[in-house]
This record gives sequence, C-alpha cells and structure tokens, in this order.
Amino acid sequence: MSNIYETAKVLDEYLLFHYGSEDETLPAGAPAGQTEALQFAVRTVVENVPARARARALDLGCAVGRSAFELSVFCDAVVAIDYSLAFIAAACRLRDEGSVRYERLDEGHGRTPLVARRPAAARPERVEFEQGDATALRSDLGDFDLVHAANLICRLPDPARLLTRFSSLVRPAGTLVLTTPCTWLGEFTPPGRWPEGATLDWLRHHLEADFTLDAVRDQPFLIRETARKFQWSIAQASVWTRRERGVR
Ligand SMILES: C[S@@+](CC[C@H](N)C(=O)[O-])C[C@H]1O[C@@H](n2cnc3c(N)ncnc32)[C@H](O)[C@@H]1O
Repeated sequence: MSNIYETAKVLDEYLLFHYGSEDETLPAGAPAGQTEALQFAVRTVVENVPARARARALDLGCAVGRSAFELSVFCDAVVAIDYSLAFIAAACRLRDEGSVRYERLDEGHGRTPLVARRPAAARPERVEFEQGDATALRSDLGDFDLVHAANLICRLPDPARLLTRFSSLVRPAGTLVLTTPCTWLGEFTPPGRWPEGATLDWLRHHLEADFTLDAVRDQPFLIRETARKFQWSIAQASVWTRRERGVR
C-alpha cells in the first residue's frame, strides 16, 4: 500500500499544520473552537512536558519537525525520527535553511504559495532528523530523558511493539508523552491489534509495570484540507514517568 505521508498533498497539509499562522490556516471569524485547536505540535510539548532542562529527547513520528524544534529550546540534544522520507527532507531543510516554500490548497486548482519558517527560539544545531521505523528502531539509539510520540501509535501496524520498547528508551525518572486521537483504522493497524476497550486502559496495561501515569488531558487539533474542509479531532494526551529501578 502507498504511504500517504509521502504525498505532496499531505506534506503541504503538514507544513501548514505545524508552521501555519492563524491567518494562513483559518478563515476570518472562525469559531473559537477552531482557533483553540491550532498549534498542536507546539502544545503537545509545552502543555505536557514539565519545563526543565533535559539532556536528550526523542520525538517519534516527528513529521515535518515542529515539536522537535520546540523540544530543542530546553533539551541539549533532540533525535527526531519519522518513517516518511518526504517529511524528514522538509524537516532537514527547515533546520538547515530556516524555511521551506510550499502551497496551501484552497479548492480545485486554487493554491496559495506560503513559506514555513523554523521558530525563532529553536536551537537547530541540537536537532538530528532521521528516517526510521518506530517499531524497528536502531539498537544503538540509546536512552532518553524525554520521549514524545504525538498521534503515532494509531498509525502503526504493530503499536504494542513500540509500547514494549518504551521502558528501554526512557531513562529512570524520565518522561514519556503520548497523544492519540484513538482513530484506529484498518489501513494502518490490523483490527486484531486495536485495543479491545479504551485506548487509555490498553496503554495502562502495557506501561504500568514500568511507568506511573501522571496526567491525562484532551488536546484538540485542526488539519486544514481546503478552505472549506478541516479535520477537527481531539487527541488524548497521557504523560508518564519512568519508575526508578526497583520502585513500584
Ligand atoms: C498522524 S501523523 C502525526 C505527526 C506529528 N507527530 C504530529 O502530531 O503532527 C503520524 C506520523 O507518524 C509517521 N509514521 C507512521 N508510521 C511510522 C513508523 N513506523 N515509524 C515512524 N514514523 C511513522 C508518519 O509519517 C507521520 O508523520
């Protein structure tokens, strides 16, 4: 099956989703609910991660890189991995050149040229982007003080495989941030690998041996497809702390 995250259409949608301003994304007079759903890739970091300096952070399913740049503000080194070569190429250009030109689809043949810009506070020299599979990570990746995986798990063919890897990826006392809109779809995940019940209970089942659940919150997000069509979703964020060894 072809990968939608390699298409020019979805690349442009994600550049707008991660870097677009309110004016670029929404029509004038948009309802408050739509405005509150902007800046998701920023909010999954700033609303979920206790703001203190960290040595190493990992962003899995980083897409075009906005959350990785946010992490670079307070983390000395950020490794950001995505399966899409097109997304990683755009993220690298943003890091190295500071901007990427793209087009916003308005309707039919109607398009508006826009520029995505790396956030001013980002520390690009701290960010390494790489193409990779979150369910088959390289064995020498090491461990991290913070792992962030936004809206990734329900896009994986075998999500439980990643869940079992978190205890070795997150250092004792480190933080794991997961968000998911729980939009389980057969085109990404075979139904036999969907949670039987609520996704949060399934996460607890897989993570509670090694992690303490600190917080759960709703985080809305809005992806613009055209001037008149938006995906409005509500991700469920869960924030976990890796237990110190031997502590339950
Ligand atoms: C729904 S998007 C979320 C992107 C970003 N974290 C965000 O919140 O905007 C899912 C992302 O996961 C990536 N992805 C899908 N399967 C993956 C895999 N096996 N390993 C790493 N990334 C993957 C896709 O390329 C896409 O960038």
